[in-house]
Amino acid sequence: MKIKLNDKVLLLSKDESYVVSVSKKIFNGRSGMINLSRLIGKNYGSKIKTHLGKEFVIVKPSVLDLFEKCLTRTAQVILPKDASLILGYTGISSDSLVVDIGTGSAYLAIFLANYLSKGKVITYEKDKRFIKIAGENIKLSGLKNIQMKQKDVSGGISERNVDLITLDLQHPEKLIKHAYKSLKTGGWLVVYSPTIEEVIKVTKEIRKRGFSEVKTIENIVREWQTERTTRPKSMGLMHTGWLTFARKLE
Ligand SMILES: C[S@@+](CC[C@H](N)C(=O)[O-])C[C@H]1O[C@@H](n2cnc3c(N)ncnc32)[C@H](O)[C@@H]1O
Repeated sequence: MKIKLNDKVLLLSKDESYVVSVSKKIFNGRSGMINLSRLIGKNYGSKIKTHLGKEFVIVKPSVLDLFEKCLTRTAQVILPKDASLILGYTGISSDSLVVDIGTGSAYLAIFLANYLSKGKVITYEKDKRFIKIAGENIKLSGLKNIQMKQKDVSGGISERNVDLITLDLQHPEKLIKHAYKSLKTGGWLVVYSPTIEEVIKVTKEIRKRGFSEVKTIENIVREWQTERTTRPKSMGLMHTGWLTFARKLE
């Protein structure tokens, strides 16, 4: 596959990596400059050197590369360590209809849409400022199966027969009745909660409404260093949030 003017590429080496837009013309990194027009017409997988001789392999960036190096974060986002469990624990398929509330920076919407080759994500956001940034992030992701709606969902969700509804906003317990209406039988509700006080309110509300398979999990990821000596890294992300899963009964 050949590199084109409007592509974003990942420049990858052993110790440095960057996502760059080819149309930016000049890349200036820690180890020197590259005239990006030299990339046009080359194949992904080929190599390029900076003016100081540092070699990079040119790779097509994944959605996770964009998360780390390109997209703008506003509100707290759901990180891949938690987002991946939503896929793993619900087992949704590639043709699923997902409703994501609220959009924020659209990290979760983008993460999920990337796995829905035949399905789509409808994401709701009430705040204009977030709509703008989320819109830019969605555009950068290149995904065409995300529809963003500017709406306060306190009054309800229009979609029906939904396979998965995700709630990541303040007072999610107030929206569980709307989520129940919109889900298909057997569909999943997933609520992301940064505090246990919220988990308690959410699970109480979920149990009132006849969901099944209710469970709350926390994913603690501890990275290890494997150079020189082998031991857990002393710094890392200590806490993100809890995920509460529930399945609509009928
Ligand atoms: C924590 S952020 C979501 C982050 C998002 N999950 C991500 O990964 O980028 C919560 C968002 O929900 C929006 N929000 C809060 N209440 C809402 C409501 N009633 N209807 C729609 N959006 C709402 C907020 O404006 C905010 O942008």
